[in-house]
Amino acid sequence: FQKEKKVLHEAHEYSSKLYHYLLLNTEAAKTAKEYLTGRGFNDALIEEFGLGYAPARWDTLTLALERKGYSPEEMEAGGLLSRRQETGGYVDRFRDRIMFPIHDASGNIIAFAGRLLSDGQPKYLNSPETPLFNKSKTLYRLHEARSAIRRARQVVLFEGYVDVIKAWSAGVHNGVATMGTALTGEHAALLKRFADEVILCYDGDNAGQAAAHKSIPLLEEAGFRVRVSVLPNRMDPDEYISAHGSEPFVREFIEGAVSAVKFQLIYLRKSHILLEEDGRIRYLRDAVRIVARRDSPTERELLLKELAQEFGVSLDTLKQESLEYRQQEK
Ligand code: UTP
Ligand code: MN
Ligand code: MN
Ligand code: MN
Ligand code: MN
Repeated sequence: FQKEKKVLHEAHEYSSKLYHYLLLNTEAAKTAKEYLTGRGFNDALIEEFGLGYAPARWDTLTLALERKGYSPEEMEAGGLLSRRQETGGYVDRFRDRIMFPIHDASGNIIAFAGRLLSDGQPKYLNSPETPLFNKSKTLYRLHEARSAIRRARQVVLFEGYVDVIKAWSAGVHNGVATMGTALTGEHAALLKRFADEVILCYDGDNAGQAAAHKSIPLLEEAGFRVRVSVLPNRMDPDEYISAHGSEPFVREFIEGAVSAVKFQLIYLRKSHILLEEDGRIRYLRDAVRIVARRDSPTERELLLKELAQEFGVSLDTLKQESLEYRQQEK
């Protein structure tokens, strides 16, 4: 098993070098290179993140791996090649895609994500689960971000690969991303070794905000202090940085990330109609319930004060209600 893994590590390392070489040196990669330039990837970024290009052919990697003496069965099990049902022959799994190498925490390449150059499905094709690659334990760029995470005792979690890369170029070096899957307890446990605080910097759309909302209890149970970046709707970190620049991004959404409870209150607003009295009452009830779960009496008081002011009710009333919820939940 160890031997099989070693062979797969080497094959991934080799494939990554090949994809990278093809991106930089071949005519076939011209469109891919232009695509990357259009998205703000200069040569230094392509180099730092080891990006590559898988040509629009069925046999580029298949032939290269064969020439290197790798067995196609093993390479298929490693997720680099696919097997055609009809013929039983082996073909490249990734075709006509920008290639993002994925590393394990020690820096070995264990998988790839391949992005289409235009609209189509799937936008990103990831390696399948293999002996090397377990999505629910892998965090994109953890191997490089780890030292910055340790130094700050803080990690920034993104949704997308490109978000991690663009934030990195904006100076955020403690950023990682999940592999297009939900955050798991395993991810949280892994990060807890290096950090005490997580900033959730997900996309501003409903899916991203809902994912942030779901991740909060998971992270708090793992012992993290959690803050959340609330990006404008329909913008992800990459798009925000491209449109407004690095400095506003860091100021507004990293330094300016709000506390978990503030985020929960913002999120709760979306499902209540505050223009109607009914809606306001229901919002206040749910909001106080959220506040009541906080352990710190000071935090509770400050939040209740803000709610009392905004909705023109007395602090005493909200405190009383919060107390009742706390007693109920005991
Ligand atoms: P998004 O749809 O937000 O894509 O998915 P993105 O990261 O902004 O990608 P760009 O900017 O269009 O290139 C977020 C993440 O979900 C996973 C990827 O990890 C992606 O970065 N994903 C998305 C997939 O694995 N497959 C898909 O087809 C789409
Ligand atoms: Mn290079
Ligand atoms: Mn998204
Ligand atoms: Mn996105
Ligand atoms: Mn994006």
